[in-house]
Amino acid sequence: MKTSSAALVAGESSEVTGLFRIAGDGRPVEALFRNTVEQAPVGIAFAKRDGSFRHCNRAFCSMLGFDAAELNNRSIANLTHAEDLESTTAGLERLWGGEVTHLDVEKRYVRKDGSALWVRVSTSLVHGGGAEAECSVEFLRDISARKEMAEALLQNQTLLAAVIAELPLALLACDVTGRVTHYNRAAVELFGIPAENTAAQARSAYPVTSRVYQLDGTTPVPPEDRPLACALRGEEVSDAEFIVVTPQGAVRTALSSARRLVGPAGQALGAVAVVQDITDRKHNEAEIKRYIAQLERAMYSTIDVIATISGMRDPYTHGHENRVAAISAAIAEEMGLEPSRIEGIRIAGYLHDLGKILVPAEILAKPTRLTPEEFNLVKLHPQASYEILKPLQFPWPLAEIARQHHERLDGSGYPQGLKDQQILLEAKILAVADTVEAMASHRPYRAGLGLEASLAEIEAGRGKLFEPLAVDACLRLFRQKGYQLPTPSTPGDQPNWARSIGVSSRRTGNESPRVVGDRG
Ligand SMILES: [Fe+2]
Ligand SMILES: [Fe+2]
Repeated sequence: MKTSSAALVAGESSEVTGLFRIAGDGRPVEALFRNTVEQAPVGIAFAKRDGSFRHCNRAFCSMLGFDAAELNNRSIANLTHAEDLESTTAGLERLWGGEVTHLDVEKRYVRKDGSALWVRVSTSLVHGGGAEAECSVEFLRDISARKEMAEALLQNQTLLAAVIAELPLALLACDVTGRVTHYNRAAVELFGIPAENTAAQARSAYPVTSRVYQLDGTTPVPPEDRPLACALRGEEVSDAEFIVVTPQGAVRTALSSARRLVGPAGQALGAVAVVQDITDRKHNEAEIKRYIAQLERAMYSTIDVIATISGMRDPYTHGHENRVAAISAAIAEEMGLEPSRIEGIRIAGYLHDLGKILVPAEILAKPTRLTPEEFNLVKLHPQASYEILKPLQFPWPLAEIARQHHERLDGSGYPQGLKDQQILLEAKILAVADTVEAMASHRPYRAGLGLEASLAEIEAGRGKLFEPLAVDACLRLFRQKGYQLPTPSTPGDQPNWARSIGVSSRRTGNESPRVVGDRG
């Protein structure tokens, strides 16, 4: 039969009720204390010296899942979790032996269903007036929720610690004094921290004994300028690159970012730095740069070979191309084009009349007016330039630019009669530079017409024949910015081959003025 704990308090345990009879006739006080114990929100258990329970209140029964009668046959030791039994027994011995006046511990009891319950237990002895204590009394609070929270927190911390430890990035954290307090495995490897310093205990000491330099590898970075120190002063460090030389002599390139650590109340906690070993990346980048430079050299060599062959046959055209290259690049720069596009225009200028290699030399150098048939032959050269350049791989559309350099906005140009939107901007710029150079310079068939006449020509054709932006830039250069027509002696005007074999690109004598059907 199930006995209620109230009945137990009222009748079964006369020893307990005796304890409560502590004043006068005692009865109201006894009842008051009985009810207090029974209705207390904390578990209360009275136990004999051998640990067997004399009385447990309702909350105690409820916490452990037993009813009061079931607990009569059990003891503190019976219900204590195996892992806490030894310390519990020892504590009770000290209490009963008078070594301590009370116990205050956190321990696990085992519920009726076998599950563990974390409780905080305060235990003291109860004296009934005699020298010997009559029993012990335990006050229990269920602390399972706090323990679960603490356990979860611990798991989170363990996980976080594992993540930091295994992070492929080196991590260093320091306190407000700048002393490094935490670092991970990647930091050990990157900074070459000696193994004897990597034990957890040693991590309170500053472990980074590696030398730090600027990227030049020779300028030392003093400790106060290193990322953690900067971050500690509130300076944000992002992607700063350093050379690190470890105590073992390994040289590494490190990419570092650091931030100051601030607590929830805004208080300074220290700083943290994340450092990435980019030695391999830097090495690969350098390799790629070297490879690109090699390719560029090969490309420019190709260009030079083509120009050399063409220039050996027709040094005059070669000089013209070099000057057109310089003028068109200057116009492109004045127009604000980006450097790589300007370079493409310069190279296109350098090669634009390459197709003249197919025009008989006597026609190109003919000192008198060309016949219509001869001029038709000359007009084939942009397409010929295109055909020669087309198979070659360049970062710019050189073949197309060369083919279009005699096209005009109104469609009156050749070879395709393209109109404004169909013509590449590079070709439009080349057309302006080509016209100015061709008119201003001496040609085999006429003397130079002078710069002003050339500028007047492109000004007159502005918007009809020539791109207005290119014309405006060209006029600004010559009229306002003091730009001078390049001369054959201008560096770069003649390539190496021409200087080395003494070929002159200037023709003199027997020249007659000619504008219409110019051969540029
Ligand atoms: Fe041309
Ligand atoms: Fe030309």
